[in-house]
Amino acid sequence: MVSTLDAEALRQSSLRYLWMHNRDWTQMAEEGDPVFIVDGHGVRVTDSEGNTWIDVNGGYNSVNVGYGREEIAEAAYEQMVKLPYFPNGTTTIPTIKLAEKLAEITPGSLSRVFAVSGGSEANETALKIARAYHKRRGDQGRYKIISRRGSYHGTTAGVLWLGGTPSAGRDDFEPMYPGMVHAPQPNPYRCELGGETPSECAVRCAQAVEDLITFHGPDTVAAVIAEPIAMPQGAAVPGDEYWPMLRQICDRYGVLLIADEVICGFGRTGKMFAIEHWDVEPDIMTVAKGIVSSYLPLAATIVKQEIADAFAGENNQLRHVLTFSGHPVSAAAALKNIEIIEDEKMVENSAEVGAYFKEALEGLKLDHALIGDVRGLGLLMAVELVADRDTKARFEPEAKIPDRLNEKFRKHGLIFRVNSEVLNIGPPLCITREEVDEIVHALDLSLWELEGELGVAQLT
Ligand SMILES: Cc1ncc(COP(=O)(O)O)c(C=O)c1O
Repeated sequence: MVSTLDAEALRQSSLRYLWMHNRDWTQMAEEGDPVFIVDGHGVRVTDSEGNTWIDVNGGYNSVNVGYGREEIAEAAYEQMVKLPYFPNGTTTIPTIKLAEKLAEITPGSLSRVFAVSGGSEANETALKIARAYHKRRGDQGRYKIISRRGSYHGTTAGVLWLGGTPSAGRDDFEPMYPGMVHAPQPNPYRCELGGETPSECAVRCAQAVEDLITFHGPDTVAAVIAEPIAMPQGAAVPGDEYWPMLRQICDRYGVLLIADEVICGFGRTGKMFAIEHWDVEPDIMTVAKGIVSSYLPLAATIVKQEIADAFAGENNQLRHVLTFSGHPVSAAAALKNIEIIEDEKMVENSAEVGAYFKEALEGLKLDHALIGDVRGLGLLMAVELVADRDTKARFEPEAKIPDRLNEKFRKHGLIFRVNSEVLNIGPPLCITREEVDEIVHALDLSLWELEGELGVAQLT
């Protein structure tokens, strides 16, 4: 715990000097924020005042093994003491071992690993590889990238223009990067193309990708990028037809398929990689977050060997350098993290406890008319709140549902921050059924209170 005096001085200092992402310091000052977290163990974190919270978001759906794993800290420490870093056309032992491990656990011939520091960088790298690959093969005109509306692939200047969610606020950064083409999102709850079942939605949305490729001309399209399950849409699990169709369409037109597993990877959805739910092998896979459970910055772009081979040979290499690429300390921590995920069967726990969690949330739906939909796979889940369950009408922004909920979640012991009426849930994969019960109870209380305020509390 930090003394009250120190805590207040630190808070003032943060308000004066710190530029936190997506938070406004004037509003934080009014609300007595920011909270600062000083300790963590398992699924719980403790703030500077000694309050303990359950982390329903698992960091940014990223602290897969949970907090406080000393083995990861020790692995990083040992590597840092031995050799913190070395570049210059050489490499290091943990970096080699991590590449080999990733090749072993990712599907099919995905085996050539370019390590970077975060999900945005991994996707930037994937786009560069896709474009350069076509050029290496003499296909000079392929530069367009198809992504889906409602997806998120990162925040840096290129990938910012992939996908798109209303909360991304991209108008500040226009003009859009050239070559960005947007397809519909196969979200069965709100299918943009009017599909009434997950299958119908999946088929229509996959078909729309093919239509875009033919409309733009296949010889202009480099790649399609998609998250196996899109989190900004609230764990929107596509119908089973979607991914196999996407694979066939990309093959038909020589377009590369990039699976963004930044959130979904490393057990989050009850498989090591979410794409395995559909037995599809992408050409490029990007991973981050769970690769090292956020203990250090690390991500990777993993490429099929036959595609990487286009960059072999003299004067042919990918021209792409990042100072921290393949950092040995992060790699050592990641190897330990993956060992924990495997040894402690966290992928299996994600599938099993995730199913239990989802059932409990379905149970809440019986009591709360505000819940329009409960969806997800494993421990990547979402609850979508609606003003009217029959019409799926959304709340007016003036209702300030996210702000009200954030305040209630805190009151009931949850660090659970939402920024829309879609409540994204992604706790550490070590969560137990008892901890799930605690979360569900707190959600239940929060929803009762909200419904009371809105004057809609009633049993359905
Ligand atoms: C699917 C997906 N891709 C990419 C990113 C960007 O990753 P980072 O924030 O590490 O740059 C995120 C981040 O949330 C993500 O969810």
